[in-house]
Amino acid sequence: MKKEIRKIAVLTSGGDCAGLNAVIRAVVHRAVEGFGWEVLGVRNGTKGLMDRPVDCETLTLKLFTGNILRLGGTILGTTNKGDPFNYPMSDGSHKDRSDEIIDGLKDLGVDALIGIGGDGSMKILNRLAEKGEFQFIGVPKTIDNDVAFTEFSVGFTTAVNSAVDALDRLQPTAASHSRVMILEVMGRDAGHIAIHAGIAGGADVILIPEIPVNLDKVAEKIKAVMASGRHHSLVVCSEAIKDEAGKTMLQNMVDGQVLYGGVGHIIGEKIHEMTGAETRVTVLGHVQRGGQPAMRDRLIASAFGVHAVDLIAQGKSNRMVAWQHRGVVDVPLEEVVVRYSNVDLGGTIVATARGLGICLGD
Ligand code: F6P
Repeated sequence: MKKEIRKIAVLTSGGDCAGLNAVIRAVVHRAVEGFGWEVLGVRNGTKGLMDRPVDCETLTLKLFTGNILRLGGTILGTTNKGDPFNYPMSDGSHKDRSDEIIDGLKDLGVDALIGIGGDGSMKILNRLAEKGEFQFIGVPKTIDNDVAFTEFSVGFTTAVNSAVDALDRLQPTAASHSRVMILEVMGRDAGHIAIHAGIAGGADVILIPEIPVNLDKVAEKIKAVMASGRHHSLVVCSEAIKDEAGKTMLQNMVDGQVLYGGVGHIIGEKIHEMTGAETRVTVLGHVQRGGQPAMRDRLIASAFGVHAVDLIAQGKSNRMVAWQHRGVVDVPLEEVVVRYSNVDLGGTIVATARGLGICLGD
């Protein structure tokens, strides 16, 4: 039976991105204006629910006077560290703190939770909801766009736009100095940012984690561009590309977490060695996570926030809102968490890149 809802909570979890505030805004508008509920914003993801008293604030419409929709980051704060089921303690040990989160929600007296997160956060929040038996709806966000069942996650488009903007700025300087410019982009194990930005930004070579890199092919392409009379080229490289043996070319462990960044320098050196071309490397980094959300991120964020609240009103739980075929839908979280969405090597985007003669490193 559908229970009566009076109060819900919302939190952001995992790495930030542009468009998170637009989701929070939509949730508050729909919940307060549409249903007359109270909305609590939990600070710093699940960590806020471990704090005592729980770290949260009531979100009212007064907060959304116009600028929040346009604002990057998250007004609630977030964390991408600390799985509550295996939480890193200060003495180096790990502890299951999931009960503290469930108790935190009970303390707040909320009837349901909306969690805005990426694939890792969805797994954790879904598990917490099953254990704590509370009503939960997930909203997908991540610049990596690797959450299954949704064509777009909040933040992806803004990140791609910043990479395209970087290519637009790199091309004239590459042409002026007859250089090969390497742009390294984020995305973890998925090459969505690289391949979308590379096509839109006119790259000659796009390297993605889904296709192991054969450096001979890359050098061949650069030489062919030079032989055609164009003495500059653009290379877009995902941060987690793999060598021919399928091994990630560069990764670091920091606090038990895999961090990428810097592989573009290896590619730059290799291209120089193998072609004689002068190379320069730009690692775009967290620039991709910030900035004003692009139109599409604001749009899907708004649709996701409204639909998430509507699902709660309908008594639904353990579902994730998603964007499919020009509209918002919802899918079971148990199916989302066992799938990963990386670049479809048989899909339109890869076929387009190949059709344009872009070298994909194979
Ligand atoms: O998952 C989003 C993401 O930006 C990845 O693309 C990147 O590898 C990672 O987060 C960076 O994490 P951090 O902000 O902890 O450096």
